[in-house]
Amino acid sequence: MADGTAKLALGDKSFDYKLMSGTVGPDVIDIRKLYADADVFTYDPGFTSTASCQSGLTYIDGDAGVLLHRGYPIGQLAEQSSFMEVAYLLLKGELPSADELKTFNNTITRHTMVHEQLSTFFRGFRRDAHPMAVMVGVVGALSAFYHDSTDINDPVQREIASHRLIAKMPTIAAMAYKYSVGQPFVYPKNDLSYTGNFLRMTYSVPAEEYEVDPVIEAAMDKIFILHADHEQNASTSTVRLAGSSGANPFACIAAGIACLWGPAHGGANEAALNMLREIGTPDRIPEYIARAKNKDDPFRLMGFGHRVYKNYDPRATVMQKTAKEVLTKLGVTDPIFDVAHELEHIALNDPYFIDKKLYPNVDFYSGIILSAIGFPTTMFTVLFALARTVGWVAQWNEMITDPAQKIGRPRQLYTGPTQRDYVPVSQR
Ligand code: SDX
Repeated sequence: MADGTAKLALGDKSFDYKLMSGTVGPDVIDIRKLYADADVFTYDPGFTSTASCQSGLTYIDGDAGVLLHRGYPIGQLAEQSSFMEVAYLLLKGELPSADELKTFNNTITRHTMVHEQLSTFFRGFRRDAHPMAVMVGVVGALSAFYHDSTDINDPVQREIASHRLIAKMPTIAAMAYKYSVGQPFVYPKNDLSYTGNFLRMTYSVPAEEYEVDPVIEAAMDKIFILHADHEQNASTSTVRLAGSSGANPFACIAAGIACLWGPAHGGANEAALNMLREIGTPDRIPEYIARAKNKDDPFRLMGFGHRVYKNYDPRATVMQKTAKEVLTKLGVTDPIFDVAHELEHIALNDPYFIDKKLYPNVDFYSGIILSAIGFPTTMFTVLFALARTVGWVAQWNEMITDPAQKIGRPRQLYTGPTQRDYVPVSQR
């Protein structure tokens, strides 16, 4: 490729396409005119080599194990920032001043209540419904309320919808948990932090006062930061695709929740802890490593591998350190932490995992912390969705304000029958 162009030779024809450069990371070949020029499509199921958009929110260097949010390394944000500060950064592009953060916190706090009628949606679910099923349904139901913030072409309404989604996810997540354990819903309290409010709505009961444990509050806030945004992952791409048709913002986030639920994506944190529990003791690890390497066995090491990271997921590094800190501070000893550690050590020294560059990802250790705090495994992906709502909302806003954005409409390589005539059933 010379001087910023990519040449494509097809038969006796040649086509030039512009190379576009970002601030950092791989260049892209602008092939928007390819079909019109050459009557061919590109083919990239899973989008392994395809950029779907331009974005300034999050940058991942998969080979180096780097994750930046608006240029700030995830390790620094996790150790020095707060989830609300990261939410502001992702939405606005810059870290807030003290006054800006105070105003943002107040705005979000005053949107934490949900319409009282929303609680009736829970009644339709069985108590043993998976909380992610409840989240998809109830967050989707928000699209039937708040009609004063669904005109996506009005920046003021977009901002209100964004604040409502970020603010109400903890309330709805806590309600999903309360419904599953048969306890009454707890209203938010405006004098608590975003994360402290969530913990109180989840764990307090009317029968006694509830004090937010600062150790747990800090750990949860850090976990939320680690899950806030991650470039064009499957659920974020789902939100963008749904939003590209101009759909209701609340419905778009419900679509993202549905996609995140899958065990290959956000559901991996629940699957990883269940896997660690199934392994149970370090002596059974070789059996599972063998299964993970066996092509005839669908089993995969949950919490391992990543489409982009071909190095350690920097979030996993922070998560492992936090897991150790939380277990120590809470005085919890969980044997599966040792199983996780030993599994990681064995896998990282096994040629199969080394050759395929499979490392622990964000989901490998998160379940150990969440379990130590007392969340049931079925709530793990709900917590991921709660935090990722900040990223989904920021990406959705970026997509809507992108002058290049069009409705997403991929093409295909057709492999079905060519045209044929209908045969009446009497002749079949
Ligand atoms: C998240 O995209 C994001 O950014 C996602 C996320 C976010 O913040 O939004 O980071 C969150 O989803 C993290 C990933 C959570 N998922 C899991 O932990 C599930 C287990 N991991 C995988 O199933 C898998 O690694 C994926 C889905 C994460 C990535 O899959 P890819 O990129 O499509 O890679 P692949 O399936 O083609 O695997 C490449 C090879 C294959 O072997 P070959 O066919 O080449 O011989 O590696 C093998 C796979 O069989 N492999 C694994 C493995 N992951 C990949 N083998 C055993 N165990 C694994 N975990």
